[in-house]
Amino acid sequence: MTIKKLNSIFRPKRIALIGVSNNPDSVGGITLRNLVGGGYNGVIYPVNPKREAVFGIPCFPDVKSLPKTPDLAVIMTAAKFVPQLIRECGEAGIHGVIIMSAGFKESGSEGKALEEQVKAEKAKFPNMRVIGPNCLGILVPGLNMNVSFATGMPKKGHVAFISQSGALCTSVLDWAYESNIGFSYFVSIGNSMDVNFGDLIDYFGQDPNTKSIVLYVESLSDVRTFMSAARAFSREKPIIVYKSGRFPESAAAAASHTGAMASEDSIYDAVFRRAGLARVFEFGNIFDFTDLVGRRRIPRGNRLAIVTNAGGPGVMATDSLISMGGKLVTLSDDTMKKLNDYLPPFWSHGNPIDVLGDATPERFAKATEIVLEDENVDAVLVLLTPQAMTAPTETAESISKLASKTTKSIMAAWLGGLSMHEGIQIFNNAGISSYTHPEQAIRAFMTLSNYSQNQEMLYETPEEVPVSFKYDRNELREKYLKEVFPKARILNEDDSKMLVNDYGIDTTHPTPTATEDEAVAIAEQKGYPVVLKIYSPDITHKSDVGGVALNIKNEEMVRATFRNMVKTAAAKRPDAKIEGVTVQKMVDTRDGIELIVGTKKDPGFGTVMLVGMGGTTAELFKDNRLEFPPLNEKLANQMLRSLKIYPLLKGYRGDTPKNIEKLIETLIRMSYLAADYPEIKELDINPLIVTPSDVIALDARIVVDEEVMQNPVKEYSHLI
Ligand SMILES: Nc1ncnc2c1ncn2[C@@H]1O[C@H](COP(=O)(O)OP(=O)(O)O)[C@@H](O)[C@H]1O
Ligand SMILES: [Mg+2]
Repeated sequence: MTIKKLNSIFRPKRIALIGVSNNPDSVGGITLRNLVGGGYNGVIYPVNPKREAVFGIPCFPDVKSLPKTPDLAVIMTAAKFVPQLIRECGEAGIHGVIIMSAGFKESGSEGKALEEQVKAEKAKFPNMRVIGPNCLGILVPGLNMNVSFATGMPKKGHVAFISQSGALCTSVLDWAYESNIGFSYFVSIGNSMDVNFGDLIDYFGQDPNTKSIVLYVESLSDVRTFMSAARAFSREKPIIVYKSGRFPESAAAAASHTGAMASEDSIYDAVFRRAGLARVFEFGNIFDFTDLVGRRRIPRGNRLAIVTNAGGPGVMATDSLISMGGKLVTLSDDTMKKLNDYLPPFWSHGNPIDVLGDATPERFAKATEIVLEDENVDAVLVLLTPQAMTAPTETAESISKLASKTTKSIMAAWLGGLSMHEGIQIFNNAGISSYTHPEQAIRAFMTLSNYSQNQEMLYETPEEVPVSFKYDRNELREKYLKEVFPKARILNEDDSKMLVNDYGIDTTHPTPTATEDEAVAIAEQKGYPVVLKIYSPDITHKSDVGGVALNIKNEEMVRATFRNMVKTAAAKRPDAKIEGVTVQKMVDTRDGIELIVGTKKDPGFGTVMLVGMGGTTAELFKDNRLEFPPLNEKLANQMLRSLKIYPLLKGYRGDTPKNIEKLIETLIRMSYLAADYPEIKELDINPLIVTPSDVIALDARIVVDEEVMQNPVKEYSHLI
């Protein structure tokens, strides 16, 4: 159904151009010229009540007067006429509309109101689909159809490009000419008041001419449709995304560490990963990568072999590979033997495989062939630098012959200028991706290998609860919403831990008290050593005010600490109401690692979960990973593996391994907690201590979403 409707936009037989003008430099003038000049085969109806003709083509005063109903109407008038024109289009039975006009949401509150008016008019015609407003238009090279005010027609090809920025489209077209990339569709979606990324992924996903989809994203509005469309198609068609605005100047103030660390960009990253997309971080890499992925040889992993005729470039490539998180393969014994038998004695005897400066095309090819046969190798990069005896063109020819004999990816970097051109042409024809410098090749390879990892994760959809809970979660929910959540915006440590504990996660149990004597009694009952923490509804970061004292061993220390702590905290925070201290058991953390586990509800993306290096320096090192709840074992495991501190959990340098199994279970339990409570805005467990035997929450903090408490939402509406 959707597809049929989008056909009127992308495969129209008749197009009405509303707002054409005689001015060759206006949007209307350029678009008409592009459409006529591009060789479009359908019917064009210029619409303009003030003119009899434009560029010699007769005009119609309005859409009602057209001899036949067009499939597509393109609106290029001033913004204020658009609501009325949408109504006229709807009444005339037009199903496809592109609004190029600007002056809507992007231009402030008046424009926003006008866009709402357009939406309201559109809503009266359920069969109508609209691209824009504030867009550049679309190009369909296969139909010679340029319905845009960007000049030039790109080559016909298999890449669908969807851009949120109109201005950028023109640059991309330029780049594309140079990179020899052809397009099936080229779309500027503008403000996407109706047709959005999700709809287009859905449409191009089913289009036989489109083999990969490239997105330029500034921000996503409807994340749910985006996710489901992307997940449905990214398995068959690579979807490559570039997201602009990675480092917003100021993140909104957050009450928790998780809140501060789960930045918008890292949430986008999690979305793209979960949807099986390939993300590129530099605009120029889009096409390098599109080209590589278009070859459809997706490596299973990140193990690269490098064949080179000079040491230097091999080292450069290795450096980039390692810095981007890749791996140089250790060649198998069998491969080493074959290389030793074949190559001159001074070859490098390892990876990178330096076949030496006097390498002939045959030597290059034979070494590459041997390496490709090694089952540890996922892909091979061949580097060539021109030296006295080097034959770039002939070498390219002999390497190209290998492409048909292997399913693995071969990449080539022919380093140099003019004398390399013929070789590069040969690679292009043979379907081998070639690059002008080693870093460029490595970056494309790493994007490819991350992409193949994301692809694997696509098959992960958490199904049943892999853990069992001690309490009925519905009953728990009722109790907490009634008795605990209304107490404060930021729940204190004992209330926060209680909920965490009820979900089957071990915690220490802080017992609050207002008096020194009682503190002693509690400490004695819990058993020394204990920890004292300041107890105040107004202080959430306790160490900041000297409000945490560890390893308290006897009555005397309890008394002294109590007095001291209450005094210091009062001095540092005169505004805070101090109710006393809490007493809890001291956990022996010497064998443990401090992690942070948390959740944060993002206005656009719903609740995300974070795990990372914890403690008081968590925000400094930013070693963390985001995912969407609920989690299963594999997703939880993958989160942990992606952390830089993962080796510490595994037992670094003979250290006893930590209880990773229990940690995974803890993450899954947390994810269910996150899924069950749309009323939680932020949740921090920092630290969560992981020892060889236990996983224990030493601190917890829940920030209640007061708005949701007042206006309850549907269950799971906070999850994408
Ligand atoms: N029960 C405990 N046993 C051992 N160490 C603890 C305990 N509670 C807290 N700590 C240590 O003290 C640090 C600060 O305590 P925490 O409760 O996290 O305070 P803050 O409000 O400053 O985050 C923790 O990061 C942890 O290293
Ligand atoms: Mg803490």
